[in-house]
Amino acid sequence: MSDNVKPVFKPNKEFAKTARIKNMCEYQALQDYAMEDYEGFWGSYAKEKLSWIKPFTNVMDESNFPFVKWFEGGKLNVSAQCIDRHLDSRKNKAAIIFEGDRGDKQIVTYLELYYNVNRFANLLKNEFGVKKGDRVIIYMPMILESAYAMLACARIGAIHSIVFGGFSADALRDRIKDADAKVVITADGAFRKDKPYMLKPVVDEALSGKTPVEKVLVVERNGEDVTWVAGRDYSYNELIKHQPTKCDPEVMDAEDPLFLLYTSGSTGKPKGVQHNSAGYILWAQMTMEWVFDVKENDTYWCTADVGWITGHTYIVYGPLAMGATTVMFEGVPTYPDAGRPWKMVEEYKINQFYTAPTAIRVLHKMGENEPAKYDLSSLKVLGTVGEPIDPPAWKWYYEAVGGSRCAIVDTYWQTETGGHIVSPLPGATPIKPACATFPLPGIMAEILDPKTGKKAEVGEGGYMCVTRPWPAMIRGIWGDEKRFVKSYFGDVKKDGKPVYFTGDGANYDEDGYITITGRTDDVINVSGHRMGTAEVEAAIKKHPNVAEVAVVGKPHEIKGEGIFAYVVLKSDTGVADELEEIKAINRVIQKEIGNIALCDDVVFAPGLPKTRSGKIMRRILRSIARGEAITQDISTLEDPTVVAKIEKMVRG
Ligand code: WT7
Repeated sequence: MSDNVKPVFKPNKEFAKTARIKNMCEYQALQDYAMEDYEGFWGSYAKEKLSWIKPFTNVMDESNFPFVKWFEGGKLNVSAQCIDRHLDSRKNKAAIIFEGDRGDKQIVTYLELYYNVNRFANLLKNEFGVKKGDRVIIYMPMILESAYAMLACARIGAIHSIVFGGFSADALRDRIKDADAKVVITADGAFRKDKPYMLKPVVDEALSGKTPVEKVLVVERNGEDVTWVAGRDYSYNELIKHQPTKCDPEVMDAEDPLFLLYTSGSTGKPKGVQHNSAGYILWAQMTMEWVFDVKENDTYWCTADVGWITGHTYIVYGPLAMGATTVMFEGVPTYPDAGRPWKMVEEYKINQFYTAPTAIRVLHKMGENEPAKYDLSSLKVLGTVGEPIDPPAWKWYYEAVGGSRCAIVDTYWQTETGGHIVSPLPGATPIKPACATFPLPGIMAEILDPKTGKKAEVGEGGYMCVTRPWPAMIRGIWGDEKRFVKSYFGDVKKDGKPVYFTGDGANYDEDGYITITGRTDDVINVSGHRMGTAEVEAAIKKHPNVAEVAVVGKPHEIKGEGIFAYVVLKSDTGVADELEEIKAINRVIQKEIGNIALCDDVVFAPGLPKTRSGKIMRRILRSIARGEAITQDISTLEDPTVVAKIEKMVRG
């Protein structure tokens, strides 16, 4: 495949016949409807797709933009959307299929899910006194109880905030404090590659100082010994036994918060992205239906972790809202070998499979011929998310996994958008490899020239924006209104009015297809997860011998981007043992953030390229790390000689 002329893959004709959106005419008609009558479009879907306790009176109020309200006056409960309303027609249908790391399996029907969530909700309410609006931290492995915990919070109106299990005690503590949470739900640990690993000790460490947390609920998963703090820690397995099986869902306003999810920004500490009830669940369901086109008897599997937005929207909320069967997997895709996912596809007859380019690259590299060993004929739609997928990975995914028969939906979105915003539709969109294609119906996504606010010209590139608020749009950054406005609505204006800016660059090709080119800010995308350079730098600075540091992203074969750190040490006596020093720096990162932020490269630089006003020129450092020529003017630097010195160290 040449880079310029991308081949086009037309949707599978058989598939298109029964797809929800069957061709580009239908797509265009929906998009036209939304453009002509925005409120009519969203209002009619909100009526059709959601089961309202009390109907809404107003579709959208944007008078206080960017503080927007959707479906005002409407009352509903998200856990009831995901469970109760399916009980008439699907009570014995599998809601969640769980597969453990060691191959243990469990199928939970909608009726069982109902009882488990009701009991969990009663536990939180009656034993811990959790009330509507309280924040609950969920620090959990990929087990069924994580989904129950989320839905139990939603049921009683508590706001959950999941912290990915790979984050360190310090990172967990920061999030607990920022959210002012009084309850933490965790597990002793879980299993990875047939071995137990621990979470509870991390929680203990996070709670060692002063925190707002009063109660900790511990799910026993791996049975390893943990310490129990009397009066604070409680066993889920014990308490759940005594809970009544019915807990009426709290009647929630359409705009009551559903959850917070912390994500990295280009500056400062992580942001608590807030999503509210009705708009979020509506779009989670609509995108599940349109983008994955899951049918009543299908089995859908998304390999994400519940600690990220993909796990929220596309393992739990979206699939359950539409009444689908969703697979939850505790293990890693390459254990016991790189055929594990394909073995699972065969066993469960998976119809839609959704994963990240980084996983595809690993599976390709470690098990190129593994897919051929299994019957993958059940697959209809393959999805990718998290970063641009490279053409070789795309090709293997399409041919070896999808049998050149399945649509690949390259879904572009982010924590803040709640659900997909730019993506192919599997029955309609002629696909170009590694291309997110077109905005979904109802989403006014446009690439704008940041200077003029006009639509970017073909091939010119610009900023990926959304010009009208949509129901699943971020509602706020917890406790920081100013940062919310500044982070997303400060950079680009269209017709003089601020619009939502994603932070990503993108371009149109001659057919109007959108390709995402990556972040325009100081955010690195490591294995599809966002890391703020500022956060990693702040962590490294905690090392007592570090005077200055700058980190940049560098292309990485598996992770997409890896972290490259330029470190200036305090002592100018040189580094006695470089490897030891690098290890020490990574230990600090491990403690402050977690293993996901470890550096791939560390260079001990004599100084950093700075402007005379002291701003670090990261662009220069990025060029050096990537082995690219430096195009910036360096004559205005405070000390231009430092660039040559660093170049020599890196390039040799
Ligand atoms: C960032 C969002 C969305 C869930 C996983 C990550 C990048 C996401 C794509 C894609 C190119 C993509 C963007 C975005 N990204 N999907 N299909 N093609 N880039 O969520 O941590 O909020 O990160 O991931 O840079 O801004 P997140």
